[in-house]
Parts: sequence; C-alpha cells; structure tokens
Amino acid sequence: MGFTQEEIAQGNYLVTGATGRTGSIVVRKLRDAGATVRALVHTTRPDEPLSGVEYVTGGYEDTDSLAAACQGIDWVIACVGAQSAARGLHLIEAVEYQGTVNLTEAASASGVKHMALISVRGADTRWSFYPVYPAKARADQHLLDAPVAGTVFRPGGMIDTGGDLARRMAQTVRSGGAVTIYGSPDQAMVFIFLDELADYLIHAHLERRAYNDTFVLGGPGNMTRAEYWKTFQDHLGVIPNVRYLPVEDIVALRETAEKEQNWPLAHQLAREEIGGRATSPAPPMDVYGRLFGVTQRDFRQWLIGVLRDVRQTAE
Ligand SMILES: NC(=O)c1ccc[n+]([C@@H]2O[C@H](COP(=O)([O-])OP(=O)(O)OC[C@H]3O[C@@H](n4cnc5c(N)ncnc54)[C@H](OP(=O)(O)O)[C@@H]3O)[C@@H](O)[C@H]2O)c1
Repeated sequence: MGFTQEEIAQGNYLVTGATGRTGSIVVRKLRDAGATVRALVHTTRPDEPLSGVEYVTGGYEDTDSLAAACQGIDWVIACVGAQSAARGLHLIEAVEYQGTVNLTEAASASGVKHMALISVRGADTRWSFYPVYPAKARADQHLLDAPVAGTVFRPGGMIDTGGDLARRMAQTVRSGGAVTIYGSPDQAMVFIFLDELADYLIHAHLERRAYNDTFVLGGPGNMTRAEYWKTFQDHLGVIPNVRYLPVEDIVALRETAEKEQNWPLAHQLAREEIGGRATSPAPPMDVYGRLFGVTQRDFRQWLIGVLRDVRQTAE
C-alpha cells in the first residue's frame, strides 16, 4: 500500500543536503506533495530554488544553525555527504560522524518526531582502511540510540534514471574495453534509483514498524554480477571483456593511492574492496517496497531499455 499525498503533506519537514543528488529530489517531491519544507543549504546554492520551499543556510559543524533549522520541525530527512575525498579527510569525522550526531542532538532537543538518515550499504566499524564507513556506522548507531525516533537507510550504488553509468559501461563493452571487477561473479548487484531512495526517505516516518531500524536498500531483482554483464551481451550483441580478480589484488593499488594522497582513487578502491568482500545477499526489496509503499522499477527491464537505446543510436 502506498501513502497518499495528503498523508505525506502532514507536518513540517527539514531536508539537509538539499542541494545534493538525493536531497534535491526529496525537496522537490515533498514540495510537489504539498508539504511544508525547510531546506538546509550549506555552501552551494540550489540550481533552481523551488517556490514554496523555505531555504535556510547552515552546516553540520555549526550546532546553532542546526538548532535553528530544527525549530518547529516534525520530520527530518538527512541527505548530507561530506565528499571528504575532494574536500578533506578531516570531514569524515567532523561531518559524517560528528555532524550527523549534531543534527540528531538538535532534532532530539527540538522534539522532532522522526529522522530518516542516508548511510551506506556496508557501513561497519570493521573497515578501518576506509574510515567513511566506520564513521557512518557510528553515526547510524547514535541515531538508533537517540531520543528522536530514527530510520537508517543503507543504499548500495545510487543511480539516476538517465542511465549515464550504464551508457558509459555499454560504450566500454562495445569498444572492447576491459572491465575489471574485484570479487566474484556470483555477488549480488545492489543499485538503487535516486527517486526511489527519495520515496523511502519520505515515507519512513509514516511506517511505524520502520522506527529505530536499519534497512539496506538496492538490488535489481537478485541480479548477480554475471547476470548483469550477460544482459549487456544479450542486448548489445558483444561479449563483454570482463575480468574478475581476487579482491586481495586491490590492497596494493589502494595503498599506493593512499601514499600518493590520491584520495578520490583511494576511496573508490576502498569502496570496491568493501563491495568485493561483501558476503550478504541483495536485500529483500519486494518486502521493503511493500512496507514503505514504494513503487520500484524493474531494474532488468530498465537496463534492457537503456541498452536497446545505445544500440539503436549507434546503428
Ligand atoms: N553515491 C552513492 O552511490 C552513494 C551510495 C550510498 C550512500 N551514499 C550516501 O548518500 C548520501 C547522499 O549522497 P548524494 O550523492 O545525494 O549527496 P551529494 O550529491 O554528494 O550532496 C551532498 C550534500 O551534502 C551537503 N553538505 C556537505 N557537507 C555539508 C556540511 N558540512 N553541512 C551541511 N551540508 C553539507 C552538500 O552541500 P554543499 O555542496 O553546499 O556542501 C550537498 O548538498 C551521502 O551521505 C553518501 O555518502 C552515496
């Protein structure tokens, strides 16, 4: 069962990370549902400010700005990402952990009724070589232990419906380029569309059974990596040049990137390493879709549509 626009429009929302990929979709969807929305913006101005949305300036390290932003708010939807590889490693602790704690404290102190938080699939304190995941795991736990009710979402790879990533991969396959994957072909693909993630975040406070719990999100109908690349083969008419390497092979590459302080590469390799070491199956998205009233696309059909389009455009 889905939730109606009227149900969604009840109460006052605060959306943080409002200029980001996810936050901007959340703000637009709430505004379109007729909700009262306050959007926390940090250093970036929104591309197109939406009429009816109250934009306030603040930051996760500025507790006064968070206290002010939470005043009169019922529902907080937290969509910040520190972008620490580009902006500075100190932000992992200062924003991913402490900043989220600051927001949780401000929400609790202001009597906010529920906070939905984007974390990441695989967030775990074990991954010391990639401190973003331990920081997020600690922040998630802080929310679950806080006075304010919370729901933590841990999405896998977040993709937009335009299919840029799949198109780039299709071009690589068509040109015979090599694709290197660390880990096993039997591992589950765990993508989630940004607009569906936004719906999970928006609906979270409406589903009491989801309070004080964590949900891993993503997974195109239990498609494995091998099935994913087979779909490229079937619909592009080219056998993808995919090599599966042991995940241990990443370690030296990641350590070299760290020595060179090439943090974007080091972080990308760290994420791949964690993905390659993942042992958990794809989450039960059909169950979650029903629980949160989210209509989900069939990923396989969507991918086939993108690949057909790539093929037609090339012919
Ligand atoms: N990309 C993926 O595939 C993926 C997968 C799983 C989970 N995630 C997580 O999903 C979340 C959202 O990702 P996204 O791609 O939608 O975000 P994004 O596009 O990177 O945007 C991040 C937002 O956070 C804001 N922000 C950054 N530092 C801030 C601070 N100190 N105080 C307040 N706001 C701040 C940014 O505003 P300014 O630019 O103005 O600073 C921006 O609006 C992140 O936590 C990310 O780690 C991402």
